[in-house]
Amino acid sequence: MKTEIAIIGAGPSGLLLGQLLTVAGIDNVILERRSGDYVLGRIRAGVLEQGTVDLLREAGVDDNLNAHGLVHDGFDIAFAGERVRIDLAELTGGKHVTVYGQTEVTRDLMNAREAAGATTYYEADAAQPHAVDSDSPYVTFTHEGEAHRLDCSYIAGCDGFHGVSRTCIPEDRLKTFEREYPLGWLGVMSETPPVADELIYANHKRGFAMCSMRSPTRSRYYIQVPDTESPDNWSDDAFWAELKRRLPKAVADALVTGESIDKSVAPLRSFVAEPMQHGRLLLLGDAAHIVPPTGAKGLNLAVADVHTAYRLFRKIYDSGRADLIERYSATCLSRVWKTERFSWWMTTNLHKFSDDEDFGSRIQQAELGYYLNSQAGRATIAENYVGLPFAKLED
Ligand code: APR
Ligand code: PHB
Repeated sequence: MKTEIAIIGAGPSGLLLGQLLTVAGIDNVILERRSGDYVLGRIRAGVLEQGTVDLLREAGVDDNLNAHGLVHDGFDIAFAGERVRIDLAELTGGKHVTVYGQTEVTRDLMNAREAAGATTYYEADAAQPHAVDSDSPYVTFTHEGEAHRLDCSYIAGCDGFHGVSRTCIPEDRLKTFEREYPLGWLGVMSETPPVADELIYANHKRGFAMCSMRSPTRSRYYIQVPDTESPDNWSDDAFWAELKRRLPKAVADALVTGESIDKSVAPLRSFVAEPMQHGRLLLLGDAAHIVPPTGAKGLNLAVADVHTAYRLFRKIYDSGRADLIERYSATCLSRVWKTERFSWWMTTNLHKFSDDEDFGSRIQQAELGYYLNSQAGRATIAENYVGLPFAKLED
């Protein structure tokens, strides 16, 4: 079989790229290793930058987002007994973020793809790109026990951190950069009203905690735990008690607790692979980079790659600018590294890294105190949180 763009992976990156291409009339096929239900079962973050919302609108996938997305003009950072509001709207000239779960984004994209009649192979095994540095790349895979070959013009590697696409870049060209943090986030979802109207990130001497939400009746909370921790070691009661200890008293007193409907531990990692393109293969999203969740940037960073890849494909198909593919990697990476920096900064300054009061913990307090009590400091946090502008392929 044949298509223009073979997309490997039906996470948010692959689905959004596929939808934009389909709307633009550029034929594409998605190969996904898992079932659709499995993909939808993964619970991830839920804060969308304006650029992410705009691209979902451009793809025509904004009905539910418009109806259920919660517009937030600010969020709080609590530390050392203070609770400081980062007034996003005021500090960025009216920008905001939209709270809407990644699971919902994925479901909306899957439904739109089905409605458009575009081809997706779920439970596609052993997808393998070939001849990516030739003019005729192709992907082999098996589906329901049958071997297939998909010929294409370009391959979009949207297959996440553990995918196959990154391994197609020759070892002597690929350079990876990584930082692991010795901690994880224990997250709980509950059918309880959120404790506050806006998100709260809390730096506490017992460890980081945060309060988020999915809707007026559904809350999402996290506490820092060792990366080796199992969610089975935490009863609901133990989780709520520890969360309350780490929140400002007024917040803890207002917290409505209830039965958890999900409880899981996520590791924290920073990772970047360079370059993000080899021949006719592009890497997008988690296939190329990971950020720790503290700045809520994972999905937004993936969407920025989709923006660049989509604009590139439009230039190729509308104006014959196949040469621009050489600019894809540098265009994405300039923004990726800035977002990696912000996510690292938030992680480094909001978590507890040592049981002792040492130089690092004092510097952390000074850093937060300085940034949060300075208009310029709050403005730089706000500017990054609402999302840096998308980078352009051409000046
Ligand atoms: N063949 C086909 N599909 C694959 C393969 C493979 N060899 N390997 C992985 N996949 C699929 C996975 O099953 C998954 O559904 O690729 C998809 C990748 O999706 P994500 O991991 O969600 O990555 P991405 O679409 O880039 O989304 C980035 O999601 O992981 C979060 O924090 C991240 O929010 C960010 C966003
Ligand atoms: C979430 O709602 O799951 C969430 C929000 C903000 C973050 C991380 C996760 O920084």
